Amino acid sequence: MRKNIVAGNWKMNLNRSEGLTLVEDVLSKLPVDNKTHVILAPSFVYLYKVAKMCSDIPKVVAASQDCSANEKGAFTGEVSASMIASCSARYVVLGHSERRTNFTETNELLKTKVGQVFANDLKVIFCCGESLAQRENGVHFDWIKSQISESLFHLSVEEFKNIVIAYEPIWAIGTGVTASTDQAQVVHAFIRNLLVEKYGNEVAEGTSILYGGSCQPNNAIELFSQKDIDGGLIGGASLNADDFVAITQSF
Ligand code: PGA
Repeated sequence: MRKNIVAGNWKMNLNRSEGLTLVEDVLSKLPVDNKTHVILAPSFVYLYKVAKMCSDIPKVVAASQDCSANEKGAFTGEVSASMIASCSARYVVLGHSERRTNFTETNELLKTKVGQVFANDLKVIFCCGESLAQRENGVHFDWIKSQISESLFHLSVEEFKNIVIAYEPIWAIGTGVTASTDQAQVVHAFIRNLLVEKYGNEVAEGTSILYGGSCQPNNAIELFSQKDIDGGLIGGASLNADDFVAITQSF
């Protein structure tokens, strides 16, 4: 059975002490019988500390927000997947729309990054999603299909079991406009069907597909009740412990 996952993408927010205080708050507010897999994606700068703070807490792990496409060497300012693994993180978020847009990350580059992540025994949260113009022009399904197939469909069945997909319509990210539950469910079902066609039922049914884009405590329950929505990738609301913990308990 696939996992319910709620991941907090802090983006470039919170200094070290603010970040560590948020982790303490989140951990203290999570119920003892928490059943959701919770992932915290802070800045690289204190990723190690966050990962250590989570290490004794069942079902809570740390992720990085990106990694280099290169293994090592003369790439000033870059952070490799092996460095991330050595900081006790478990996941790497790849292909967030802000990286695709602001840092011109292509499907081909992301394919290389996936290779680096897997070479270091980490898992991937792979983001995909369309712009408003693409949706209005009716090309969003083709776009999402190409994002997923060009970056991930070289993977074997065994490798694909280490992929989590996050569907994040760009028009819903940080805008306060959430995709309706129907809009989200339709795309999630489309993505799961792509996985059925490529990898078969077992992989498709075992892959968690998260929704991201203005997910809040007041809409998470409805979103997460949809058949193909297995949790969320949370930006703004992950910076508030009460909101984030409420979202983690919205299944
Ligand atoms: P948001 O961001 O929740 O602030 O819309 C989601 C994301 O970018 O992952």
